[in-house]
Amino acid sequence: MAKGNSSSTAQAERQYHDTQAAYVLPNDEIEQDRLDAQASAIVEMIGGHPCLAPTLSMVGMLKAVDVGCGTGIATMQIAEMFPSATVHGVDLSDVPTAVQKIAPPNIVWTKGNILDIRYEDDTGRMSASTEPVAQIFKPGSLNYIFGRMLFLGINDWHRYFSTSARALKSGGIIEHQDLDWAFYRTATSQRLDNEWEWHRAVMSALKKTGLSPQAGSNAAELMKASGLEIISMQTFEFSFVPCEKAFNSIAMGHYVQQKLVPQYPELLRKMLEIDGITGSRIKDLTDQALNDISSEKGIHQKYTVTVARKP
Ligand SMILES: C[S@@+](CC[C@H](N)C(=O)[O-])C[C@H]1O[C@@H](n2cnc3c(N)ncnc32)[C@H](O)[C@@H]1O
Repeated sequence: MAKGNSSSTAQAERQYHDTQAAYVLPNDEIEQDRLDAQASAIVEMIGGHPCLAPTLSMVGMLKAVDVGCGTGIATMQIAEMFPSATVHGVDLSDVPTAVQKIAPPNIVWTKGNILDIRYEDDTGRMSASTEPVAQIFKPGSLNYIFGRMLFLGINDWHRYFSTSARALKSGGIIEHQDLDWAFYRTATSQRLDNEWEWHRAVMSALKKTGLSPQAGSNAAELMKASGLEIISMQTFEFSFVPCEKAFNSIAMGHYVQQKLVPQYPELLRKMLEIDGITGSRIKDLTDQALNDISSEKGIHQKYTVTVARKP
């Protein structure tokens, strides 16, 4: 695996995926531990089940994929829910060996970039260069596509949803769970980030990479533009500081304080360097960010779960 960009000695031993993809986060054990904690907090936040798709009506399905599966935690949950299906876990990085050993037998792990899939012509013939992932996404072959927290990896959402729409069978379901890069006061739509300098810098970096600040809330429009029919769209408070007003997000607030906040400086370093910011300026903006993201109880980003069907 490629070493991280070592602009500071403290970060030199972090490890990253070894591909050209836009994804900015590491893939080492610290990150895997964070992802598993985040997955549990998300499930609690959205009501105790990893998927909001109509899973009861999907029993008997044959082929599903978890895109950007990370440590494979949701892939395993989906595989256990649908034992008769082959469930593909696709990611830029390998799933941890310990997970591969205990995974249900109906999972197939594949390393690859979903944005590399190219349909060469209107008949749906695919380019040979992207064979393993492209085989999973054969036109009209998938019953269920699940993708969660891909906002730091997908820099062409139109391609993501049009590839997915093409790969679904008629009646197949896509579920997308993702976060917007804005901060709100609890139980309101009142933005808190308008005056935050570090946030403006991150927005500018996002623009350069093609990553979207609205990967959650824009999904429905993009799905519709790809010919999909929206079944449901629900929004949750991804709390950064626990607050009793957002009861289902209390575990999320604890997770953010314990596991995400310590990783924020590294995330900001990677983002701000994209915008040419280095050295003491990164430190200043990071100090501001750490203060702002924990500035009040219930401060949150909006997490949207969108479920759609191919007609
Ligand atoms: C924040 S993690 C979320 C992991 C998992 N979905 C979860 O919720 O636990 C994002 C994952 O998406 C993967 N990823 C990012 N861009 C990708 C791409 N273009 N194709 C495949 N995987 C991608 C990353 O390697 C990373 O493991």
